Amino acid sequence: MDDATLVVHAGHSSPAQGEPFRAGPTFAAPYRHLGQPDGSANAYARMGNPTWTAYESALAELEGGPCLVFASGMAAVAAVLGTTLRPGDLAVLPADGYYTARSLAGGYLTEMGVRIVTTPTAGSEHRELLDGARLLWLETPSNPGLDVCDIRPLARAAHDAGALVAVDNSTATMLGQRPLGLGADFCVSSDTKAVTGHSDLVLGHVAVSDPGLLAALATWRAQVGAIAGPMETWLAHRSLATLDVRLRRQCETALQIAIALRDHRCVASVRYPGLPGDPAHELASRQMRFFGPLVCFTLADEDTAERWLRALRLVTPATSFGGAHTTAERRARWEDDDVAGGFIRLSAGLENAGDVIDDITSAFEA
Ligand SMILES: Cc1ncc(COP(=O)(O)O)c(C=O)c1O
Repeated sequence: MDDATLVVHAGHSSPAQGEPFRAGPTFAAPYRHLGQPDGSANAYARMGNPTWTAYESALAELEGGPCLVFASGMAAVAAVLGTTLRPGDLAVLPADGYYTARSLAGGYLTEMGVRIVTTPTAGSEHRELLDGARLLWLETPSNPGLDVCDIRPLARAAHDAGALVAVDNSTATMLGQRPLGLGADFCVSSDTKAVTGHSDLVLGHVAVSDPGLLAALATWRAQVGAIAGPMETWLAHRSLATLDVRLRRQCETALQIAIALRDHRCVASVRYPGLPGDPAHELASRQMRFFGPLVCFTLADEDTAERWLRALRLVTPATSFGGAHTTAERRARWEDDDVAGGFIRLSAGLENAGDVIDDITSAFEA
């Protein structure tokens, strides 16, 4: 079945006569449980919850491998790093990936004796760094620069070198690209973003190609306690049904915005993997089904960018991405990304594209 059909039905069983289409969330701490905790039934809700199980089975269908839900995207990132890396191990990370993942690796993991090397997402310099590596971490398209790397050959090179491969798929989502099908061992996602898409919850998940990798992640989750709330998980599963519709609309609008920005005299440069002529377009067209909601562009300087943000009437100034509202922020305000002062990361929402473009260009005039 097509993804548009799968997202509606994934993780749901057909309702019996007189039953609702979906069970509500299960709110629990302990469960009634007699005898030894042998894993056959829930004993305590840090280890398992039926609302997680339903969402995880939906994600497994969409990702192409078994899945675990986590309290946030960062909890999912930390679980993969924490279960794969030991003191003395070498990990190859993107130099231009999500900054909190980079700072976790460069800070805590380095202090724990893990050796971290970084390389830009674009290109294939990863190959030269893989000798002796335990983990290759990719993020494509990268946040915030929207560079793209070729997952399949890089995964093959990493496996030849004896390394595991993790792909942070938060900007693309599993409908945009399926890293497990391209050879990754782990697919990591911040479900805070387009997967849930309403800017009202924080959540993450990890999908794996080999069910054997799941046990260590489940133990990590139970020990660290980075567990998802049942309400957030239930809302996430509810939102999956509209993922295909939302992404289609967001990506169409993102492309129209990118074209309008490319042709505007106030804009020094624009990046969107779906934009013909973008340095990532050819590779992204081969690898991705949707190019994602993020568009990045550069204005003259910090002051111009701040004045543009303040002149917007419809686009909401906010961080994060993938939600129903079109949002934009000056990325350098976080001081952790190596971007120009006038660099804007915009996330296309579900509003009418013409209205959004009018707002963007009116703010330029203002
Ligand atoms: C690429 C990427 N990975 C991971 C995360 C972390 O996700 P969360 O904020 O849900 O912890 C983010 C958040 O912005 C992200 O952009």
